[in-house]
Amino acid sequence: METADKEKLDEIIKRYQGEEGFLIQLLLDLQNELHWISKEAIKELSLRTGIPVSRIFRVASFYKAISLSPVGRHKVSVCMGTACQVRGAQRLLDATESRLGIKAGQTTKDLNFTLNRVNCLGCCAIGPVMVADDTYHGRADASTAEKILKQIAAD
Ligand code: FES
Repeated sequence: METADKEKLDEIIKRYQGEEGFLIQLLLDLQNELHWISKEAIKELSLRTGIPVSRIFRVASFYKAISLSPVGRHKVSVCMGTACQVRGAQRLLDATESRLGIKAGQTTKDLNFTLNRVNCLGCCAIGPVMVADDTYHGRADASTAEKILKQIAAD
């Protein structure tokens, strides 16, 4: 862990120490700061709190909201539901994978983007649909994806 991340960890520990539900709250805040919980972060957390690594890992792996694998700062999803597929979702996904240099389910090495394929998002009429950082983009194609990714990378 980098020094800045260790400082964030110390700050979060101070925030909740002694409170009931301390560990889960701490893990959620840490995830908010670092986007995911690494093995290294779990070891540091154990060292600083005295909570065994096995207990931290058990709690972290129980909650779906906590990710034990890298998650990018920006989350991009392409809907692969039937209605979106009929309208070209595969081309949209291929273009997005190619632009980011990763496959769906992966995170870029610089931890900027995580790309996922999802099932119907409930807005089939505007398919193909791409979601970037919680913003829905309908009738998306390769050029939409290029524009969106460029825009959020610049933020
Ligand atoms: S299939 Fe994509 S929104 Fe329904």
